[in-house]
Formats: sequence, structure tokens, C-alpha cells
Amino acid sequence: MKIAITGVTGSIGTQTLEVLEFLKNKGFDFEIVGVSAGSNDKKLIEIIKKWNPKYAAIEKKELSEKIENTNVFSGNGATLKMLKNSKPDFTIVATGGAAGIRHTLKAIEVSKRIGLANKESIVCGGNMLLNYAKEHNTEIIPVDSEHSALFQLKNGDDIPYKLIITASGGALRDVPLEELENVTVEDVLNHPVWSMGKRITIDSATMVNKGLEVIEAYYLFGIKNIDVVINRNSHIHSIIAYKDGVMKFHYGIPDMKIPIAYSITYPKRIFEYKLPDITLEPVKFEKVDYNRYPALKLAFEILGNQKLQITFNAADEIAVKLFLERKIKYTDIYKIVKNSVDYFEKQNIVLNDFEDIINLDREVRIYAEKIFS
Ligand SMILES: NC(=O)c1ccc[n+]([C@@H]2O[C@H](COP(=O)([O-])OP(=O)(O)OC[C@H]3O[C@@H](n4cnc5c(N)ncnc54)[C@H](OP(=O)(O)O)[C@@H]3O)[C@@H](O)[C@H]2O)c1
Repeated sequence: MKIAITGVTGSIGTQTLEVLEFLKNKGFDFEIVGVSAGSNDKKLIEIIKKWNPKYAAIEKKELSEKIENTNVFSGNGATLKMLKNSKPDFTIVATGGAAGIRHTLKAIEVSKRIGLANKESIVCGGNMLLNYAKEHNTEIIPVDSEHSALFQLKNGDDIPYKLIITASGGALRDVPLEELENVTVEDVLNHPVWSMGKRITIDSATMVNKGLEVIEAYYLFGIKNIDVVINRNSHIHSIIAYKDGVMKFHYGIPDMKIPIAYSITYPKRIFEYKLPDITLEPVKFEKVDYNRYPALKLAFEILGNQKLQITFNAADEIAVKLFLERKIKYTDIYKIVKNSVDYFEKQNIVLNDFEDIINLDREVRIYAEKIFS
């Protein structure tokens, strides 16, 4: 199998390489034909030297070294050229943020199957993106742990009554509400369970990430009856409930390598990992307090409204960037997202194609950037 990885220098990209290292030792037959990065040239050079792909891409820089046997594209659109030339059978789209939408579209065009980590593609593209995949006969295997769990639990023709997505509660789950205003970037990046990229770690604390996941689940599984519960140690990744009272839980140690591996070897399970000792811990869930996580409430309110989903995501990307730059407070993240959603709700915007989506994403960013300036 020929594999390409976009966002190879990030958290998911790096773990994908670890999984592939393991699978190689198990005799899984593959070749990495293309990789892409945003700006981390040092890490990209290390990866190219180790894996020797035919094509590589870096979007925001030039590579400082010429590398034999690998064609390196650089600059805006480099990832698209890498995908077009490397012609992978399978692409893991692990680019962070809405920048990944174009990568997902190209991956759909050139691959038979994609492992989709970039949830923004579905949140912004909605049914347009799913239809595009259908037209190209390309399978989408979710990589997000909750959606991988739902994908694994959903069996044949059974129609679920409800999807229940679990959340850890993020780094600030026990911080008194009145103290949230003054938490630091370091406090928020200290996630209790998962080790992930910066944006998704901040988004876990605000539950914007859970909101994006609810939207992603709605499109991937075609069910609007979705709930979120807190499972502190994230050993339950998701639940499917059926009309006859049965609930199926997906249980396992939280490690992104497991859903990444499943997306690569699906429908087989070749990856190996330790099992949790189920006698050592009770399975416990808590209700979500929407005063602590107003962004999740907002995500439910805009579910199915593509214009506002794009707004929700783009405004949050800007707000998280501003918070990481220490220009706004933690509690301002939600204010920016809510203000943007309220503003764009009143704008008459029609989305006919992917260019319209990308234009709206750009417009929202410009608007959101100005709210606190
Ligand atoms: N981390 C997780 O556990 C997890 C779990 C589920 C889903 N996801 C989803 O997976 C995606 C990646 O998350 P992550 O945590 O791995 O993020 P991350 O660590 O921030 O990595 C993002 C990757 O995307 C690259 N990138 C950013 N902008 C780019 C651009 N314009 N063109 C090309 N490449 C670009 C980055 O390159 P440079 O670093 O070289 O700039 C990096 O390789 C997100 O959509 C996230 O929601 C992540």
C-alpha cells in the first residue's frame, strides 16, 4: 500500500509514523510515498531521511538542505502537488485547522481511502465533502478517537437511536468557574489525559473540540440525536445506544496510535497494544455543566448549519491563536466565537462550492481578529 501523510510533523503525523514503524516490524506491506509539513523544516528533514519518500512538501518555508531521491515542493499549495504526484492508495490527513480542507479534497481525488484526522474538513465541508468522496469512490475512515470508536461500534444495518460522545473535561475541569478568567496558557495546555497539538488541547478545555466532534459525528453517521458525557479517564471513547435499551461502549486505553492504526489496516487489526485492567477502575460518567462549557452548547445550537459551523471553527482558530499569543484571556475565546457566530448568522451568505467555504473561512478570520483589537 502506498501511503501519504499530510501534517506529518504534528502530533497525529508523528504518531502515524510510530504506528507504521510497528506495522513494518509485523510485516505489513507499505511504502510512504509522500509527506507534508507546515513550517517545521528540521523535523521534516529528519522524517525524509528516515523514510525516504518520493515526494515531500513544506508550505511555509524552503527546505534548507537538498535531499537526494526526494522531490520537495515548497510554498503555498505544496501539499497538493505532493499528493497529486505521489498518487497514494491511502492518505492520512493530519493537517491542523481549516488549512486541511484543501488537503482532504485532494486526498479524496487521488486516494482510494483516507484516514481523516482533520475534523475541520467535515465541520466546514459537511455533506458537500461526503458527497465529493462518494463521487470519487473514496472511503473515509475517521481517525478521531471518538469517531473511530463509533465507526467500530456501528454494526451493519442496525440504526442507532443515539450517539454518546465522551469528553475528558480538559485541563480546567476542576478549576472554580470564577477563576477561569485568569488561567494561564500553561494551565490550559496541561491536559489530564491526552498529549496533543496546542489548538486541540486548548479546545479540549473549552470543549470547542467536543463541539467540533458532535458536528463531525452528525455528518459521518447521519444522526442528530447526540449527547456528550464526561468520562474523566477517557477509557470509554464513545457509546452507541439502540432503541431496545442496549448500549455498546468502546473501551480501551486512550492512545491515538490505536485509532490511527485501525484506519490504516481496516478492516484488519494488526496493531498490538496493552489491554486495560477492568477490575481496577469503576466506569463513571458525569453530566456536562454548560456554564463551564458554553461553547459546546453553542455547537449543539448550530448543528447542521454549515455557514455557522465554518464560523464557529474559524473564529475559534483565531481566538486560540490570540490566547496562545497571550493577547486575550481564556474566557475571551468563547466571547470571540459567540460574537462571530451572532454576526455571521445575520449575513446573507450562500455556500455553493468549496471555494465559497474557503472564502467564508477567510472572512470570519478577519472579523474575529478585530473583535478584541
Ligand atoms: N492530536 C490529537 O490527539 C488529535 C486527535 C484527534 C483529531 N486530531 C485532529 O488532527 C488534526 C491535527 O492535529 P494535531 O494535534 O496533530 O496538530 P499539530 O500537532 O498542531 O500538527 C498540525 C500539523 O499540520 C501542519 N500544518 C499546519 N498548517 C499547515 C498548512 N497550512 N499546510 C500544511 N501543513 C500544515 C503542521 O506543520 P508544522 O508543524 O510543520 O508547521 C503539523 O504537521 C487536527 O485537525 C486535530 O483536530 C488530533
